[in-house]
Amino acid sequence: MLNFDFYNPTQILFGKGRIADLAKVVPADARVLVLYGGGSIKSNGVFDEVMAALAGRTVQEFSGIEPNPSYETLMQAVELIRKEKLDFLLAVGGGSVIDGTKFVAAAVNFEGDPWTILEKRGRNITSALPFGTILTLPATGSEMNDGSVVTRKSLQAKMAFSNKLVFPKFSILDPAKTFTLPVRQIGNGVVDAYAHVMEQYMTYPVNSPVQDRFAEGLLQTLIEEGPKALANPEDYDTRANIMWCATLALNGLIGAGVPQDWATHMVGHELTALYGLDHAQTLAIVLPGMLRVRKEGKRAKLLQYAARVWGITEGSEDARIDQAIQRTQDFFEKMGVKTRLSDYQLGAQNIDAILKHLESHRMVTLGEQRDVTLDVSRKVLELSV
Ligand code: NZQ
Ligand code: ZN
Repeated sequence: MLNFDFYNPTQILFGKGRIADLAKVVPADARVLVLYGGGSIKSNGVFDEVMAALAGRTVQEFSGIEPNPSYETLMQAVELIRKEKLDFLLAVGGGSVIDGTKFVAAAVNFEGDPWTILEKRGRNITSALPFGTILTLPATGSEMNDGSVVTRKSLQAKMAFSNKLVFPKFSILDPAKTFTLPVRQIGNGVVDAYAHVMEQYMTYPVNSPVQDRFAEGLLQTLIEEGPKALANPEDYDTRANIMWCATLALNGLIGAGVPQDWATHMVGHELTALYGLDHAQTLAIVLPGMLRVRKEGKRAKLLQYAARVWGITEGSEDARIDQAIQRTQDFFEKMGVKTRLSDYQLGAQNIDAILKHLESHRMVTLGEQRDVTLDVSRKVLELSV
């Protein structure tokens, strides 16, 4: 096992009716800004519950944080907070609202150009406003991690940052609040969580059976529960299992002490920045090709994955690996997330532009062995046409 630091201060309040507990976790004298997205929380009653739970506090709202939150929009929230002297943020929504809130929290008192927070990947943050979250879409793990991804539309740049100062103080996870998710977002959430586990598990062995078995358990749970959520959207237990899976997939636990990949995510971010695809759609396109092209470097873990996650134990090594990768791709399709560039009206003609963006963001030696060069990314994309 590799050396590691594990730190996660986020308090989780999980279960039915937990929004009512907001009053216990938001300081009584806080001047609160509630941040949210395009309005799903208004139509499904979550907003009213939040306001009722915050009764008695100074509360303002900021709406319109878009999927793949934009720097341009988030800076408007920063202005509002400075003007109104607000001091506590509450993100209510999916990963985009939570990521956006993390950026806002870090930018409010930042001296200098806030875009450099993204350029320096968060290393230059020295303070952040405290914030909590109410999660309505299980997918990113942002509710219990210190990462955030922000898009600057004018530059077509989607960039990530992280810093310990932007862990949420608390996150409320009520699985019943995910009943109103559109089918597309249920699929997206399961695929994103699956990809997060794979980025931390599908590398090379370092004798880490605890992390491996946690990871395999999360993958198997997603494989079992994901299709149930599509078939019975109001099954509470299914939603609860998926929600907790997605949180554990990216809260630092399974990634502690093991090599990590993340090449699929980095290539995927360029696809979103250039063509507006949903985050999980990009992962469904890129991940199968990434595994096929990098089969040799990942051979030992691919065989373990085939056996333990998919129960594939017969046949030659190559046949088992190929089957496991195909089963992975089929699972994404079963969750309603298409896995080819051509499914999104993209193709070979787009590959040069994607590689150019990777290069301009210095994404030229990705992966756990830093061997995912632009040539490797090209091969992956060619396989994904
Ligand atoms: O904006 P509203 O109206 O709320 O609608 C949203 C949005 O249109 C809707 N939605 C959310 N909860 C709902 C709901 N609709 C009905 N009922 C509900 N309960 O779903 C749509 C998508 O929301 P979004 O927040 O964009 O999705 P997701 O949670 O998948 O977040 C994606 C973003 O997170 C980033 C991605 O890159 C992307 O920008 N990621 C963040 C990570 C992190 N912080 O660790 C890691 C991930 O790899 C990922 O990169
Ligand atoms: Zn992701």
